[in-house]
Amino acid sequence: MRVFKDVNLANYHTFGVSVQSAWFAEVSRLTDLLTLLRSGVHPTLVLGEGSNVLFTRDFPGLVIKNAMSGKSLMPDPTDPHRVVVEVASGENWHAFVRWTLEQNLGGLENLSLIPGTTGAAPVQNIGAYGVELADVLQELEVLELHTGKLLRLKAADCGFGYRTSRFKGEWKDQFLITRLFFALSSQQHQLHTAYGDIESHLGGIPPEQRTPQQVSEAVMAIRRSKLPDPAQLGNAGSFFKNPETDRDTRDALLKKYPDLVSFPLRENRFKVPAAWLLDKAGWKGKSIGRVACHTSQPLVIVNTGGASGLEILDFAVTVAADIREKFGFRLEPEVNIFPPGAWPEGD
Ligand code: EPU
Repeated sequence: MRVFKDVNLANYHTFGVSVQSAWFAEVSRLTDLLTLLRSGVHPTLVLGEGSNVLFTRDFPGLVIKNAMSGKSLMPDPTDPHRVVVEVASGENWHAFVRWTLEQNLGGLENLSLIPGTTGAAPVQNIGAYGVELADVLQELEVLELHTGKLLRLKAADCGFGYRTSRFKGEWKDQFLITRLFFALSSQQHQLHTAYGDIESHLGGIPPEQRTPQQVSEAVMAIRRSKLPDPAQLGNAGSFFKNPETDRDTRDALLKKYPDLVSFPLRENRFKVPAAWLLDKAGWKGKSIGRVACHTSQPLVIVNTGGASGLEILDFAVTVAADIREKFGFRLEPEVNIFPPGAWPEGD
């Protein structure tokens, strides 16, 4: 393992912003990771593929790129129709999803083509097209940073919610996720095809003949048609979370905007797509300098070439302030912004 000094992180995160890390190392073995974490360099940041982070300034400590690899499967002793799949946290998420599909396993197909590593997936409970990681994750192995001990956690104890988990809250900086364990179906797959355009992509295939692979192909086609490829246009996926509101606020808005889109959540609560708010406010395809809201999915903020992290942050703050003024919603970033506290909280 080699540790490098003054490394430009532009190629290690998907916004492609040029920022320096004082120290940088790539680790493929847990023992190397432990050695680095005990080296006393502060702060440290473990990065997967950097697909959900915005650096607004240089990183003064050690960035560790997680490259731990390996995956395997075993029968589930409790259920003959399921298998337990284990994956190391440095594996690429989409390559892992495709590998499970090659083994004819079902459960992850709706989460195809999400950028990033498997280890980053639980932190924000990745989700797409009606399925969230929490629906299929069973257990996690984590490294407890202050003791150096490996622990097993049940998925049910991780506080998974919409784009959140305890890893983002009270467990922040306490654990490093090292391995994930999924329960996937080997037969009698439960396919989720109700969301968005999946049905229309599956076209004439009768429901009983559909396979997880076909759902994955549909999801990939939809994502490729809407979402920019970070390799071509720097971005970190949806920049904001979709806001929630109550029935009265939703109804009042509906009077003003009869074309308002909203989805019922639990009792009297509704999700309003941030993409709709941005579209309505005229942000779709709009740029300020080298930063823009994407032309086909305005929720994705893109670096159109050479933008700094601060320019992207300023753009996002301007957009959020405009949405607050026009509709009263406070948009919260879904992307992790470095340094913590860079996003203005409150009024
Ligand atoms: N919409 C518009 N104008 C647009 C685009 C969308 O009005 O230009 C409205 C439409 O009414 C559409 C609604 O927004 O029905 C929702 O759009 P979409 O289905 O694209 O989903 P989203 O809520 O914007 C979420 C996730 C995505 C995920 C998709 C599909 C969040 C913050 N984002 O986006 O996840 O891929 O659903 O499941 O929940 C990510 O987290 O980085 C991400 C890309």
